[in-house]
Amino acid sequence: MSEKFTGSFTQQEPIPEDAIEAALAVLRHGRLHRYNVAEGEAGETALLEQEFAVQTGAKYCLAVASGGYALATSLRAVGVKPGDKVLTNAFTLAPVPGSIASVGAEPVFVEVSESLTIDLDDLAAKADKARVLMLSHMRGHLCDMGRLMEICDAAGITVIEDCAHTMGAAWNGVLSGRHGAVGCYSCQTYKHVNSGEGGLLVTDDEEIAARAIMMSGSYMLYGRHLAAPGPEVFERVKYETPNISGRMDNLRAAILRPQLRDLGTQAERWNGRYRAVEEGLRGTPGLTVVERPAQEAYVGSSIQFLLLDWSEEAVQEVVRRCGARGVELKWFGTPEPVAFTSRYDSWRYAETPRLPQSDRILAGIIDMRVPLTFSLEDCAQIARIIRAEVSAVYQSA
Ligand SMILES: Cc1ncc(COP(=O)(O)O)c(C=O)c1O
Repeated sequence: MSEKFTGSFTQQEPIPEDAIEAALAVLRHGRLHRYNVAEGEAGETALLEQEFAVQTGAKYCLAVASGGYALATSLRAVGVKPGDKVLTNAFTLAPVPGSIASVGAEPVFVEVSESLTIDLDDLAAKADKARVLMLSHMRGHLCDMGRLMEICDAAGITVIEDCAHTMGAAWNGVLSGRHGAVGCYSCQTYKHVNSGEGGLLVTDDEEIAARAIMMSGSYMLYGRHLAAPGPEVFERVKYETPNISGRMDNLRAAILRPQLRDLGTQAERWNGRYRAVEEGLRGTPGLTVVERPAQEAYVGSSIQFLLLDWSEEAVQEVVRRCGARGVELKWFGTPEPVAFTSRYDSWRYAETPRLPQSDRILAGIIDMRVPLTFSLEDCAQIARIIRAEVSAVYQSA
C-alpha cells in the first residue's frame, strides 16, 4: 500500500503563551485603539514599531492593518500618482499588482527567471518605463540585490520591497526590506508572524515615514509614535497628506511582539523542514530543484520546484496524484486563478503584453507550504510521495 500524508498544509502553530498573555492584558484593560493609552503608557503598537525598527536597523517603522495596506501606503508615500506606471514582478500574488491599481497606477510586469526572482536583464530593459519598482520577493526568493540596486539607482528608480514572504531573510547579510527605500511586511496568518491580519513598513526616509504615518490614520497624534521622525517633518506634510485609515490595533501588536522576538529561531525551524523536503526531492528525474544562492539567507516557509517544459496534462496529473495522497501542491500554470494562486494574466484590469519567458516558467512552477506544524519526518514523507508521483508520471510520458 502506498503511504498517505495526513497532516494539514494550512495549520499554523498556536499563538505562543506569552503572546496570549499579552493579548489578554490588552483585552482586560480595553484600550485596543493604538492612540487610546493611559497616562505614561506607550501602547503595544508604538512599542511594536520601536522594536521592529531596532530589529531591522531601520530609522522608522509603522504598523498597519495589512501587508497590502503597507504596499499601497508606500506607493502613495513615495509619490506615485494616478496614471503612473510601476514596475513589478510577473511572478507574484494578487495584492501586489492590486496595491498598484489601488492608487490608480498601472503595473508594468517584469519577467521571472528560473531562480523564481525578477529577471534583472528584463528589468534593465524596462528601467525607463517607470520611476518606482514594487519588488516582490515572491515565495521568499531574493534576487541579486546588489545588481538590482545598481540598475535602479542608475535609472533613478525608487525601490519598494514587498517582504511578505521574506521577513527575517537577507541578501549578503542585509535584511530584506533594507535594500530599497521602503520595506513592507505582512503579519497575516500564513506569513512568518501571525496576528490574523497586519502589516509593517520600515524606511530610513523621514518624509516617507511621516506621510505613511499621516495616511495610516494618525490624525494629529503622531507624537505618540516611538519610531517616527520629529514634529518638524510632520509640520511639512500634515496638511497635504490624506488620512486613509489603516492603523494596527494594540491587540494585534501585543500578539506580534513576542513572535518577532522568536523570528530567528522560527526561521531555523522552517529551514530544517525546507531542507528535509529539498533533500528528498533532489535527483528526481524531470524535476528541477530551485538552487538557493550562497548570498541568500532565506526563511523556508514554502518550497517551489519546477516541472519545466512538461505538458499541462502531465503537471496536472502530478498535482492530482499527490493530492490523492494528502500532499497539497499548487500550480502556477493553471489558466484560472485557484484559491490564493493567480498569475499576471489573471489581473485583467492591467494591460499586459504576453511575457513568453514567464509563461514558460509559470507553467512549470509547483508550490507547497511548509508549516511549522510539520515534523522533519513529515517533510521526508511528503518528499517521498512527490518523488514517487513525479517519477511515475515522468516515466509514463
Ligand atoms: C507576495 C505577497 N505580497 C503581499 C501580500 C499582502 O499581505 P496581506 O495579506 O497582509 O495584505 C501577500 C499576501 O498574501 C503576498 O502573498
